[in-house]
Amino acid sequence: MAESDLPAHPFVKWAGGKSQLLGEFQRCYPEELRTGVIRRYVEPFIGSGAVMFDVLRRFPLDHVVIIDQNDRLMQVYRVIQTSVEHLVDVLASMQAQFWALDDEARRTFYYTVRDDFNQHRGTAVDQAADFIFLNRTCFNGLFRVNRRNEFNVPMGRYRKPLICDAENLRYVHEALQPVTIVTGDYHEAAVYAGPDTFVYLDPPYRPLSATASFTAYSADAFNDDNQRELAQFVRWLDEQGARVMLSNSDPHNVDPNDDFFDELYDGFVLTRLPARRSINSRSDRRGVINELVVTNYPPAAEIRSSPTTATSFVTSS
Ligand SMILES: C[S@@+](CC[C@H](N)C(=O)[O-])C[C@H]1O[C@@H](n2cnc3c(N)ncnc32)[C@H](O)[C@@H]1O
Repeated sequence: MAESDLPAHPFVKWAGGKSQLLGEFQRCYPEELRTGVIRRYVEPFIGSGAVMFDVLRRFPLDHVVIIDQNDRLMQVYRVIQTSVEHLVDVLASMQAQFWALDDEARRTFYYTVRDDFNQHRGTAVDQAADFIFLNRTCFNGLFRVNRRNEFNVPMGRYRKPLICDAENLRYVHEALQPVTIVTGDYHEAAVYAGPDTFVYLDPPYRPLSATASFTAYSADAFNDDNQRELAQFVRWLDEQGARVMLSNSDPHNVDPNDDFFDELYDGFVLTRLPARRSINSRSDRRGVINELVVTNYPPAAEIRSSPTTATSFVTSS
């Protein structure tokens, strides 16, 4: 695949989405992507795929693999890859219907779609359309499920939500052509990792505080033991010769003495990048906080010398 200018970007809003951080992240990509030595990209916690779309846009790659345990999301990727025009037709019709309704009728429409989605009614294309519709019209664009794995977010209040972004869906379709789409646990990435591979991992955030409101990944609960197990996997990827980059919330944002990740990734490079994410719903406590990026290679020189980023290098043991 030649380097292209495809403007494909995430087709859903996703908790922990990285669109806001791409400018900072670009400086953390391995040099071998630029030189063309690395031609394979693997992303095992793909979510909305902000980083994948960015990497696809910038670098010539031969093979791209995306993995996520959310089977409903991965099904949408597959539908866009194979049947985008059919999907666009269904979404365009849903958008026209929804926009024409008054508030009460919109509620009925929304909860009917939600029920259809939870009951797996219709074809794969119908269910993908339902997924995108719900993401565009639900409260806050969250994907949240209950214990029975049912999507349970209430309706949001948007006057004219863009339900059918046909142009972007077509770009995404094109971008996804060389992509292998895997539903499953992140360990599936092992099959694809080698010396010519860049693996980017963005697991569910480690909560910054017990009450942090954005930790509500109910079905994705990822506790400290999961983070430790993931670190073992990252070490294994490193041993295979892959270039590895992992991001998470920085515990130093709330407790400068919390060295959880510094200890877990001893021997790797830890870079602290300014993120725009707020850590508190009270506006008086909002502010720029750092995102932690772990790599098994040095980041670009400009980051190391940047006065605005706190970068710490952990020396190899
Ligand atoms: C922080 S989000 C990734 C966000 C993504 N970087 C983006 O820009 O949208 C974490 C993702 O990991 C997935 N996930 C959670 N546990 C997983 C596991 N054990 N294996 C694979 N995927 C998992 C969730 O479904 C979720 O999509």
